[in-house]
Amino acid sequence: MKHFTTVKDIGDLRAAIAEALEVKRDRYAFTALGRNKTLVMIFFNSSLRTRLSTQKAAMNLGMNTMVLDIAQGAWKLETERGVIMDGDKPEHLLEAIPVIGSYCDIIGVRSFAGFESKADDYSEKVLSQFMEHSGRPVVSMEAATRHPLQSFADLITIEEYKRTARPKVVLTWAPHPRALPQAVPNSFAEWMNAAAANGDVDFVITHPPGYELATEFVGSARVEYDQRKAFEGADFIYAKNWAAYTDPNYGKILSTDRAWTVDSEKMTLTNDAFFMHCLPVRRGMIVTDEVIESPRSIVIPEAANREISAQVVLKRILESL
Ligand code: CP
Repeated sequence: MKHFTTVKDIGDLRAAIAEALEVKRDRYAFTALGRNKTLVMIFFNSSLRTRLSTQKAAMNLGMNTMVLDIAQGAWKLETERGVIMDGDKPEHLLEAIPVIGSYCDIIGVRSFAGFESKADDYSEKVLSQFMEHSGRPVVSMEAATRHPLQSFADLITIEEYKRTARPKVVLTWAPHPRALPQAVPNSFAEWMNAAAANGDVDFVITHPPGYELATEFVGSARVEYDQRKAFEGADFIYAKNWAAYTDPNYGKILSTDRAWTVDSEKMTLTNDAFFMHCLPVRRGMIVTDEVIESPRSIVIPEAANREISAQVVLKRILESL
């Protein structure tokens, strides 16, 4: 594996899940693989799970790790070419990236959508420069349009908890007070559509009008605007907020309607579904306390599987170096 930024990079999904379960059975079986290899993790945005799970995965493989928070202690980075750098940004990304690459073997990058330019966000302006200029394999730790380490962990979790060969999985929009990127829902849809193509899930997306995702991510999913109808017979409810994608509302909040909050009454419509969310989650907005604390909530094992998804990805990259 050269880079890991989309579902395409993981190849055969069933093989990836099998490898993940093998890694989970003995996560210290490959400690020699990462000896004298270094992972640098670059964060342009905050993180709890991604930071800890990816670092832990690298350590499980015997790697050294270094973490750089761009907002805390690093030089402010200019990302535009052709500018006169007379402002508050003393370093250009085009020097910083190859310098970072010279200190490591693999680079992890977290860089969210800025919502200033849809074209910049959907061309993955920052992530693609790391891929182009670092000379190293790059792992997306959530970029502007996708969060593949999360989606891989979600798929592993669904595999572990499913009670039928082809469970109904529902991605539901839920309200939030801030404008959030589409990376998690885009990516979840991309991975679920790939699983659906294998006949492994029945995938439905539900959201209020105006919250349509990009067609390349919706793919072959069924879109149902009636959340209650979507929940009927569901085996997994995956809640997430996202800001509008379609123009002229890109990056805007169109609704904070708490009628879309996942609550116990709505969960009774499902096939005793498991509740999933990538975390962090806003209680009372996305989901009620009762649902997230219920025995059907699998948000903690889902987060724990972030270590496993990251370990499979790093293991495959190390094997290809
Ligand atoms: N789910 C997830 O990526 O969590 P963090 O933002 O805390 O890394």
